[in-house]
Formats: sequence, structure tokens, C-alpha cells
Amino acid sequence: MVKLVAFAGSTREKSYNQAIIEVAVEGAREAGAEVKLITLADYPMPIFNQDDEAEHGIPEKAQQFKELLIEADGFLIASPEYNSSYPALLKNAIDWASRQAGDEKVLAAYKGKVAGIMAASEGALGGMRVLVTLRMLLENIGTMVLPNQKAISRVNTLLDESGKVSDEKTIKQLKLLGKQTAELAVKITAS
Ligand code: FNR
Repeated sequence: MVKLVAFAGSTREKSYNQAIIEVAVEGAREAGAEVKLITLADYPMPIFNQDDEAEHGIPEKAQQFKELLIEADGFLIASPEYNSSYPALLKNAIDWASRQAGDEKVLAAYKGKVAGIMAASEGALGGMRVLVTLRMLLENIGTMVLPNQKAISRVNTLLDESGKVSDEKTIKQLKLLGKQTAELAVKITAS
């Protein structure tokens, strides 16, 4: 069974990206993947500073996050779009997990992994521009990003009162993305 780690690049209480990642996770699980859905709120990390890293090493929470990624075959990531790009929260976590320590392989967390990426926004573009930057970032560090991706526009109109995605078409699209990510992870791990 392939293992995926899923998270949103937002720790906002009513995060839209948290809402969409939950649906993609369902799709991946239905396709047979073992998915660990986490929140970055459980992995608070200082803003990366190379002097601090040299003096103190990798902080405990950053190390835990990195180990989760190392153990996984792939990722599901839902990112908010902040000024056309990814939020500092997400980039900071990705940066910490990219650091080498001891005889660890460089980029062990990312190399040879797969990712399904998505975004949600109240705006008309649904965060489409963050997906361009996130795809480039992940591919530069060795993660194969699924061609299919989803930017969910006007996401506030697609939720029920509890904040869960209720629009059937959106649920279908997000589940498909989760399923396709799981299937790509199966192919990559078998090759
Ligand atoms: C935003 N937002 C935003 N939305 C968008 O569609 N394109 C953008 O470029 C931006 N830029 C931006 C910058 C900053 C600093 C903030 C705080 C917000 C709005 C953003 O998409 C919205 O707050 C989402 O709801 C954030 O995602 P979560 O927290 O709901 O997952």
C-alpha cells in the first residue's frame, strides 16, 4: 500500500484549503492509499535561518515533519495563494524538510516522490497562480507533480454550514485528484 502525507498550507481555523484537502484525501483512501492527514499547526517551526541551523541543528518539530515526508511515497498539498505565490508557512516547512543532516541523502524527503496539488480561493482564479509556483518548487527538488491539478474558485459558495465541501462536482474533481495521485505513487514505487 502506498503512503501519502496530506496537508494544507494554511493553519486558519476555517481554512478553505483544509476543507479541500480533506476531500482529496478521501479520494486517495478510496483508491487504496494509506494517507496521513496532518496540519502544519502541529509542526510549528521557526523561520529558517542558516546560522541557527548551524548552531542548534534542525528543530524537533521540523525534524518530525521531515521524517513524515521521508517515510511517504507522495504528498497531497492544498495551498492558499498569497500575492500570486505560496504562503511563507508552506515554503518554510518545505525548506526545513529539504535540509541534509549527517549522512542523510540530500533531499531524501522529496526525491522520487509524487505530489497532487490544489488550491482554493474566494476569487475567480481559485489560486491558479500559486499552483504554477508550487509545481516549479516541488519539481526543482525532485518531486514529480501530477499534471492534473485543481484551483477551486469561489470556494465559499461550495461549502455547507460546517465548512465542508458540499458541491458534488467539486467533490468529484478533488477525489479524482486524490485517486490519481495515489495511482501515480503506485506506479513510481513499482518502477
Ligand atoms: C490573499 N488572498 C489571495 N487570494 C487570491 O486568490 N490571490 C492572491 O494573490 C491572494 N493574495 C493574498 C495575500 C495575502 C497576504 C492574504 C492573507 C490573502 C486571499 C486568500 O486566498 C484567502 O485568504 C484564502 O482564504 C486563504 O486560504 P485559507 O486560509 O482559507 O486556506
